[in-house]
Amino acid sequence: MKTFPINGTNLSFVDRGAGAALLFVHGFPLDHSMWNGQIEPLSARYRVIAPDLRGFGQSGVSDGIVTMEHFADDLAALLDFLTIRDPVVLCGLSMGGYIALEFWRKYAKRLRALILCDTRAAADTPQAAANRFVVAENVLREGSNIVADAMIPKLFAPITLQQQPDLVEKLKQVIDRTDPRGIAAAARGMAQRADFTADLPRIGCPALVIVGQGDAISPVAEMQAISKAVPNAEFKIIPQAGHMAPLEQPQAVNEAIERFLQQNGM
Ligand code: MLT
Repeated sequence: MKTFPINGTNLSFVDRGAGAALLFVHGFPLDHSMWNGQIEPLSARYRVIAPDLRGFGQSGVSDGIVTMEHFADDLAALLDFLTIRDPVVLCGLSMGGYIALEFWRKYAKRLRALILCDTRAAADTPQAAANRFVVAENVLREGSNIVADAMIPKLFAPITLQQQPDLVEKLKQVIDRTDPRGIAAAARGMAQRADFTADLPRIGCPALVIVGQGDAISPVAEMQAISKAVPNAEFKIIPQAGHMAPLEQPQAVNEAIERFLQQNGM
């Protein structure tokens, strides 16, 4: 991985291939490796950039709170560091999707297309937001493994839990290794995120909305509603996948992404 300095810390990222730039933003509380099924195949034709967000993977950690806007600013800074001036395709999963919407709000001119995977446009309910703060305190006190244990059953489709135990175990290890301060800061940031539901009709770039058929966190109906609200959006359901569709069924997800990019002249 490469690194770049930002505000007294370092952020790590993968940068592979050449061509139109695809920026892949991971979910919570993961790292760039959740895109391993995309990085190699798609970098044969495109420039694939996959950062570890602040507080995750090999990147530096910020205490307190990291908002979705702060993460979006880090992405813009990464593009500046790489001197990428042309608009990019931004693909975000779940928390990565919240960040992608924030990036659209602030940096729409830097976006060529959006790919929203297994994510939501709505903000947290007050109860969900309050629970994030409880999670933040618990993880700081007890360690990242409590988040891994709570989340793993919800992240994958039952068939993945049964048939791909190595994949599940690797993801669990990623969460276990994550600094609790990074998890707490992002959980607090997600609790405060904006509601984008009313903004979706103003998204002007092409969009692809992808959801695992068995996604228990961002269900199919909610993702379909996003795709209907965005004027120029396509919708793709991935069979035999849950919330981690790109990791569970990389081939089906890559086919959808490549078709979408080709239809849009990339
Ligand atoms: C994620 O996968 O990023 C999380 O499920 C997002 C969330 O907790 O809302």
